[in-house]
Amino acid sequence: MNIPSQSYWMASVDFPEYEQLSGNLDVDVAIIGGGITGITSAFLLKQSGFKTAVLEASRILHGTTGHTTAKITAQHDIIYSIINSKMDEESAKQYAEANQAAIQAIDTIIQQNNIDCDFSWQPAYIYTQDENYILQLQNEYETALKLGFSASFSEEVPLPFKVKAAVRFDNQAQFHPLKYLLALASFIPGNGSYLFENTKAIDIHTKSGPGYEISTDTGFRIKAPNVIIATHYPFYDGDGMYFARIYPERSYAIGITITDTYPGGMYITAENPGRSWRSHPMDNGEELVIIGGEHHKTGQGGDTQIHYQNLLETARNTFQVKEVLYRWSTQDYTTMDQVPYIGPLNSKDPGIYVATGFRKWGMTNGTAAAMILRDYILGNENEWAPVFIPSRVKPGASAGKFVTENVDVAKHLIKSKLKPAEKAEGKIELQAGEGKVLEIEGKKRGAYRDMQGQLHIVDTTCTHMGCELSWNSAELSWDCPCHGSRFTYDGKVMEGPAQKPLGKIENKNV
Ligand SMILES: Cc1cc2nc3c(=O)[nH]c(=O)nc-3n(C[C@H](O)[C@H](O)[C@H](O)COP(=O)(O)OP(=O)(O)OC[C@H]3O[C@@H](n4cnc5c(N)ncnc54)[C@H](O)[C@@H]3O)c2cc1C
Ligand code: FES
Repeated sequence: MNIPSQSYWMASVDFPEYEQLSGNLDVDVAIIGGGITGITSAFLLKQSGFKTAVLEASRILHGTTGHTTAKITAQHDIIYSIINSKMDEESAKQYAEANQAAIQAIDTIIQQNNIDCDFSWQPAYIYTQDENYILQLQNEYETALKLGFSASFSEEVPLPFKVKAAVRFDNQAQFHPLKYLLALASFIPGNGSYLFENTKAIDIHTKSGPGYEISTDTGFRIKAPNVIIATHYPFYDGDGMYFARIYPERSYAIGITITDTYPGGMYITAENPGRSWRSHPMDNGEELVIIGGEHHKTGQGGDTQIHYQNLLETARNTFQVKEVLYRWSTQDYTTMDQVPYIGPLNSKDPGIYVATGFRKWGMTNGTAAAMILRDYILGNENEWAPVFIPSRVKPGASAGKFVTENVDVAKHLIKSKLKPAEKAEGKIELQAGEGKVLEIEGKKRGAYRDMQGQLHIVDTTCTHMGCELSWNSAELSWDCPCHGSRFTYDGKVMEGPAQKPLGKIENKNV
């Protein structure tokens, strides 16, 4: 697909610049990460009277939140029947109420602050074209009804194809996530609260009491009695072993215009390959149809270009495609029992909180997280909090899956080390824009030739725990199949648990 990777959301807003941290600072709550979780938390906490500071490593809303599909729904694939059977009905109720309340909270914030962000109420459907999923959808429907959702079961959806079964939730919504969150961000600075960009948190010093000291790459520090880690992958682990308790999956989206009419509504398949549908009114008056799907574990997706082709093929089989305007991809983390970790990071540092593992449903889970963490910090009881407590993952509840994930990591660690790479001798034969793992002078290296013809060679050993990286041809990055760290073609850390860049390798035979 011959268009650059860029999300419609990022392309259709102007980002104001926020200053870098330029001195030591003391606040009530330090919030690390400027995605939906961090920005909403800071907004709500400032409203509750706290002095807050958001620290964003690069630019706010450029992470997963800038690349979402932005359905605001409590319908999260098949989830309620799973929580109901693996945990209990009370836990399913807490999850349902937290996420439905998040939709209401977003609507209230928009109305109270007159935010123009293309918010609209929409029904959400989960559908199947595979009869093996009918029973699961029936279960999900029955559980949803018990939990109080306005849900219905049918054998058709408004999209122009036949389905075997579908569950519809009413009172769901969609919006332009960045128009909404940039508005929230604009309320944060002032009256003792701050929003800093280009300020990466490096470490949290827990013995610096009273309060926690966060060191940053600016050389300055922030001190606060409460810290929220909203960095997507928790940059500070606090012995919580988060890298082994969450796994990343990438997913893809294309934005197209069509000559026929999109019927409205938001849709997702129950089965694989996953497909997600919604539309969005663009500022030029045209309607953008967004088709998502093709998820796979990070670093395990093979030729990543193919995923966009597959989405386009689905689009062409469904609508008269006029133009493909956008394509983008991003990743999100899933926990072992599919319920996010929201709450205290560990048992020894009571003022440090985390919110992660939204399983591609962070518009509501991220908003719910902000509401739950606000209550923790205020000392208020929150009735949804128990299901999300990070320390819940114990042998019994999810030990099987926990072991499976770690076996998967170990398998990749060993397999990728043993896999032979193509030998490169003399001049490295790569086209402009091409990247590959090669054996250079007896060692595995990652080589990429940029569009100007310059060769970039890196050590493909992940700086987190040593797995071998894969080349991502669609996003021009080196991706780790173990815990989802990603690096630019010249080795800089983009996301995930890795903190150090890849080693750069000099090669005279360019
Ligand atoms: C393809 C796809 C489609 C999706 N569609 C939907 C959808 O339709 N509906 C829905 O509800 N959810 C959806 N999601 C999920 C949702 O987008 C995410 O769960 C959510 O955006 C995560 O937000 P976040 O704030 O936790 O993380 P992010 O948005 O990634 O923000 C984290 C921020 O922390 C910063 N950071 C990291 N480390 C540091 C550090 N050390 N110091 C300072 N800052 C740091 C990063 O730069 C980043 O800006 C989708 C996800 C994917 C992958
Ligand atoms: S992210 Fe853990 S080894 Fe690469």
